[in-house]
Amino acid sequence: MSAILVTGGAGYIGSHMNYALLDRGERVVVLDNLSTGVRGLIGAEAEFVEGDVADRDLVRNLIRKHRIEAVIHFAGSIVVPESVTKPLLYYANNTMASRALIEACIEEGVQHFVFSSTAAVYGIPGVSMVSEDTPKEPINPYGRSKLMTEWMLEDTAKAHDFRYVALRYFNVAGADPKGRTGQSTPRATHLIKRAAQVALGREPYLDIFGTDFPTPDGTGVRDYIHVSDLIAAHLLALDALRGGAGSDVFNCGYGRGLSVREIVAAVERAAGHKLPVREAPRRAGDPPMLVADSTKLKLTLNWQPRYDDVDVIVRSALEWERKLGAS
Ligand code: UFG
Repeated sequence: MSAILVTGGAGYIGSHMNYALLDRGERVVVLDNLSTGVRGLIGAEAEFVEGDVADRDLVRNLIRKHRIEAVIHFAGSIVVPESVTKPLLYYANNTMASRALIEACIEEGVQHFVFSSTAAVYGIPGVSMVSEDTPKEPINPYGRSKLMTEWMLEDTAKAHDFRYVALRYFNVAGADPKGRTGQSTPRATHLIKRAAQVALGREPYLDIFGTDFPTPDGTGVRDYIHVSDLIAAHLLALDALRGGAGSDVFNCGYGRGLSVREIVAAVERAAGHKLPVREAPRRAGDPPMLVADSTKLKLTLNWQPRYDDVDVIVRSALEWERKLGAS
């Protein structure tokens, strides 16, 4: 039986992918160098290979050995401010590693590729709802390193028997509804993760970065998508590629913006108490508002979100955070 290669399958989103694939009876091979991933999140039935995506010989061998038929590529570095201070690390871990992986796919005849891209490719968009045609003007090395990978995929698909889907994630949050995996990075910077840590008393307070944005309550507005809905989009993309669909790019979000204060209120509802917050200056490079127009994903792949409810998202994040503390 052929298998799916999940790179970065020990990470937050990748580990959710493993479970979704295993749940529907697919064979899963995880490639992860465990630089930020957690071995215990991978899922017992997945085959695990510790190693680097940039190691082309390793990847070629495992494609052959496991008869890899499709690659879902999550592995990469994801912290925007770090990408500003260590740009070459981001071009190595994201752009160059992806190049090696794509080349191994071409050499071994893997035809289907699903890529984790990001809303960061849009930079600071001039529109409130971002569609796939909105100009791509990334403002940091993270966004550029991902956009360069999209370009490599586009060019490779024109030249070879190879098709891909790039999914541009907006703000991913929440955890597996069955409680098997969740966001486990101890020093995470993401809002919902941080707010859950504060709610459980693991951090003293939550910073609100910027209260003077041109938004209804002055705080940053984002489109928070439940990780399980995001994973559903990956399954649809994979199935479309297998069914012969052409290469494509999709935004992944709900099309609904929530402010930092609205997230804080939701976490307070879930926790049953107030959060200690501190108003702080804006973070460098934060756009005021980033909301996805995901019409294309809905119409083309028939994506139907199931967890489009901030209380559900926040509750699942908080439950996972409790579990992390208990283990
Ligand atoms: N925020 C706070 N306090 C915190 C953390 C975040 O107020 O402790 C605010 C941010 O300023 C922003 C919002 O909450 O307004 C969301 O911030 P996150 O750090 O959770 O996420 P970002 O929107 O900065 O980043 C996300 C993805 C990145 C991607 C980026 C695109 O996580 O991978 O969107 O702009 F690059």
